[in-house]
Amino acid sequence: MNQLEKDKKPILLSGIQPSGHLALGNYVGAMRNWVNLQQDYLGIFIVVDMHAITVRQNPAELRKQCLSFAAQYLAAGIDPEKNIIFIQSHVHQHAELAWILSCFTYMGELNRMTQFKDKSQRYDDNINAGLYTYPALMAADILLYQTDLVPVGADQKQHLELARDIATRFNNTYSPTFKVPEPFIPKAGARIMSLQDPEKKMSKSDTNENNYISLLDPPDVLKRKIKRAVTDSAHEISPDSLNNSAIRNLINIYSALNDISAAEVANQFAGQQYSSFKGELTDSVVNLLEPFQHRYNEIIGEKGYLSDILDEGARRAHSMASRTMSKVYRKIGFVAPGHP
Ligand code: TYM
Repeated sequence: MNQLEKDKKPILLSGIQPSGHLALGNYVGAMRNWVNLQQDYLGIFIVVDMHAITVRQNPAELRKQCLSFAAQYLAAGIDPEKNIIFIQSHVHQHAELAWILSCFTYMGELNRMTQFKDKSQRYDDNINAGLYTYPALMAADILLYQTDLVPVGADQKQHLELARDIATRFNNTYSPTFKVPEPFIPKAGARIMSLQDPEKKMSKSDTNENNYISLLDPPDVLKRKIKRAVTDSAHEISPDSLNNSAIRNLINIYSALNDISAAEVANQFAGQQYSSFKGELTDSVVNLLEPFQHRYNEIIGEKGYLSDILDEGARRAHSMASRTMSKVYRKIGFVAPGHP
C-alpha cells in the first residue's frame, strides 16, 4: 500500500439547500456534526442549488444565498484545506447521475416521501416533477463520491434510506458500483422545532421569521425571538417540562448547544422561571453565534478567497465524480466516446 492509499480517509458528505436563511436547526442537526467529524473523514460539503429550484426562487437572491451559505460553512469551522466545498450546479455529473438513478427509482417509493407530501401541500401552485424526483438527485449527490457517512437531521432519514436502496438495487442489477452510505443522525438536536409552533419543524424558509433563529440574527433579535418563543401555562422548569413540546424544544436546543442531556438540563434548571431559563438559553446562542458572525463577515467580505475555494472544490469534486460516472456508463451499456 503506498502512502497515498494509507492517507485515504473515508468520505463524509452532506448538503444544504440555499433557500431562506440558515437556521439553528440546520446548525445543530447537520453543520455542527460536519465540523466535529471532519478530522476523521474527507468532507464533501455541497451548496445544493439544484435542489433549491424545486421551489420557485428569486434569481438574484439565490445567487447571493449560494455564496452566503458557502461562507457560513466556513464560518462554522469547516477547514477548506482539508475538505471539498462547492456549489452543486458547478459539477455537471450530479444532473447526469440523477437521470440514471431516476430510472432505478420506483414511483411507489417516491410517493411515500413525506417531504414531497409536505411540500406539495405548502406549494400547491407548483407541484413540479423536480419536487417529485428530488430524492434521485439527492441519491446522486451521495453516490457519486462513494460516500461512507452522511450527517443529516432526522427529516432526511427517509431520503437517505432511499439512496441506500437505490445503490443496492443498482449494485445487484450489475455488480458492486456504489458504496452504500450510512446515515449519521445526532442524538441531540436531530429535530429542532419552530419557536412559535413546536409541532412543526424549525424551517429556514419559514415565512414567519419568529419561527426560526437565523445564524445571522444579531443578538437583540435572538433575544427577542427566544423571549417570544411559546411555552405553556406552567411558569417554571421541572422534570415534567420534557412532556411539553414547546419547553422540551427549548431544553433540546440548550442541551445540544451545551452537550448535556435534556434530562440533565431539566434537573439543572428545575424550579427556575421560564424567563430566567430563556435568558440562559439566549446566552448560549449568542456565545455560539457572535464569533460565528464575526468570521462570516470577514469571509463574505473577501470575494476572491471564497470563489477560489469554490472553484477548487468543484475541480476536485468533478474529478472524483467522473471516475464514478465512467463506471456507471460502462455497466449500464453506454458506448464510450471514441469506440463506435
Ligand atoms: P435542508 O436544506 O432542508 O436542510 C439541511 C440540513 O439541516 C437539517 N435540518 C434540521 N435538523 C434539525 N432540526 C431541524 N429543524 C432541521 N431542519 C433541517 C436537515 O436534516 C439537513 O441535514 N435534501 C437535503 C439537502 C441535500 C443533502 C444531499 C443532504 C441534498 N443532497 C446529500 C445530505 C446529502 C435538504 O433538503 O436539507
